[in-house]
Amino acid sequence: MKTYKIAAIPADGIGPEVIDAGAQVLAALEKREETLSFDLTTFHWGSDYYKKTGVMMPEDGLDQLKPFDAIYFGAVGAPDVPDHITLWGLRLPICQGFDQYANVRPTRIIPGVASPLRGVEAGDLDWVIVRENSEGEYSGHGGRAHRGLPEEVGTEVSIFTRVGVTRIMRYAFDLARSRPRKLLTVVTKSNAQRFGMVMWDEIAAEVAQDYPDVTWDKMLVDAMTVRMVKTPQSLDTIVATNLHADILSDLAGALAGSLGVAPTANIDPERRFPSMFEPIHGSAFDITGKGIANPVASFWTASQMLDHLGEGAASARLMRAVEKVCADGIVTPDVGGTATTQQVTDAVCEAIRSEN
Ligand code: NAI
Ligand code: MG
Repeated sequence: MKTYKIAAIPADGIGPEVIDAGAQVLAALEKREETLSFDLTTFHWGSDYYKKTGVMMPEDGLDQLKPFDAIYFGAVGAPDVPDHITLWGLRLPICQGFDQYANVRPTRIIPGVASPLRGVEAGDLDWVIVRENSEGEYSGHGGRAHRGLPEEVGTEVSIFTRVGVTRIMRYAFDLARSRPRKLLTVVTKSNAQRFGMVMWDEIAAEVAQDYPDVTWDKMLVDAMTVRMVKTPQSLDTIVATNLHADILSDLAGALAGSLGVAPTANIDPERRFPSMFEPIHGSAFDITGKGIANPVASFWTASQMLDHLGEGAASARLMRAVEKVCADGIVTPDVGGTATTQQVTDAVCEAIRSEN
């Protein structure tokens, strides 16, 4: 029997709703797979904690998380706390402190979930976006001077390092190689941004030499949005900077039917620290407390977590259950259904229990 210690950080908005749903599904899996169990510890950090203490997590937060096998994260963001405080106070310190430099975002159309693209069905859109997660445009470099005066300046400096770009490129080529099509698209903006982005292109070409079996091409990020919409079939694995991939993956989620189904994994490929798994959506104030948050992204990221832990069979079982329930039309309103979060969760648990 293998027991995994999971740190759950539900945080804000619908985060607690979808993490609770995920915990139920993990419990159902644990009953089904005799060799597997989960020891979930919940950390009540986030915006409410901030309002009481002035910080989003305790000062020794990372030390508390470090002994865990993985982190299962909900969402951060509250209407009455500035977004840069919530993000930089909780999620980014974990990503950066644990050097989770590979952010992996699979997107595909799940049977039963309609794409807004005409004529595009399950099978036509099956991508994994790899987002550089430690530097680039979100490295936190920059500053403000002469605040409030007419001559005020704000700078936001993108940092690209050879080490950072090479390691994410290798990760992306490895991932592309592991998928049937062995196809990688490298996204930059190296026409307008002449330094860091040109270095990306050069490093991509260097790393590609070690992967003769992977077919790869380059796209400028603006043209990439067009290709994603017009010929989704032409793409498979995609690698891009922190900012570009952030934007492209929201688009990908929408094209696959809803942000509510899109998962993400923040991975430390060297396994020095726990990796973190989360839905890509935010705290969704507009539907918080209504019991209708789509839990599929939360289930899908749990399946990424199982893969990372080496539990491929349980991960596949979970995704089969999710796909069956969606195909049966038991889905939440964001994807055109009438089911509640709990009804979807019950159906997925039942599918896990009853699968032959
Ligand atoms: P959002 O992702 O929270 O919501 C965007 C839209 O998608 C809303 O209409 C929402 O109802 C819908 N939606 C999102 N997840 C859904 C789900 N599971 N089921 C059904 N519908 C869903 O993004 P928004 O509104 O831009 O941001 C709200 C807050 O979340 C902000 O404070 C923002 O900073 C934060 N945020 C946090 C993220 C994180 O923790 N990783 C990511 C994105 C935003
Ligand atoms: Mg985003």
